[in-house]
Amino acid sequence: MQTWLNYFEYNRRNRPSVPWARGIEVEPHLRTPLIRSLQKFQLGESGEGRKLRDHARKAGDPTYAAAIDLFIQEEQEHARLMGFILRDLQAPVLTNHWSDRCFVFLRQLFGLQQELMVLLLPEMIAKRYFQALHDGTRDPVLRAVFAQIARDEDGHLAFHVAYLQRAFENLSFTRRIVALVIWRLLFRATCLAVMLDHRSVLQAVGVNRREFWQDCGRIFDAVAAGIFSPAHLGGPAPVIHPQPSTNP
Ligand SMILES: [Fe+2]
Ligand SMILES: [Fe+2]
Repeated sequence: MQTWLNYFEYNRRNRPSVPWARGIEVEPHLRTPLIRSLQKFQLGESGEGRKLRDHARKAGDPTYAAAIDLFIQEEQEHARLMGFILRDLQAPVLTNHWSDRCFVFLRQLFGLQQELMVLLLPEMIAKRYFQALHDGTRDPVLRAVFAQIARDEDGHLAFHVAYLQRAFENLSFTRRIVALVIWRLLFRATCLAVMLDHRSVLQAVGVNRREFWQDCGRIFDAVAAGIFSPAHLGGPAPVIHPQPSTNP
């Protein structure tokens, strides 16, 4: 886990600059759907992660607990960046939304491993979502922010895969299959909810539903292979690797 602590520290010290001074000129057709969608993602990433910090501390590895602290800080940084965008677009941030309440409730039901599995559901979708936002606008401020968040999300996925692969190392074949089937169902239900709730912005950035659904499925397959492939039997290595930030 030391590698991950180093990764998060490196990533915190090496944030690319965002040209905020030039202001945001969002395409007119994108403005309203982007605001409505970002408000919900901003709320989702602004949590303090108190339960997750608690769980991580109880796992007995101080290096992992420190990496989780930095991971949560990185999510809060995403919320801060999205907050700046909303302020620039003269839109308020949300303090409450059903989708956020739903995930907070689910995450608090179980222990660390299950909490990470629930947390990974929107994380996998966020990777494709921020890539879509990046590709769907020409504004340099928005592109810089969305590119950075999408890169960070790659790191988050790989970080959780690394931990869960070890945590599930001794899980029997049957339990792996059951866990995978239930997790896939939950993932697809989450995909559906996100696609419905954020359909206007996905349409505005030109991503069709089938493409989004299939791309999310590919991300899920890579993450699931990383977690559930028995490494000791020589299973495939996780496809997702941490990528240190570079200045654009
Ligand atoms: Fe994030
Ligand atoms: Fe994340």
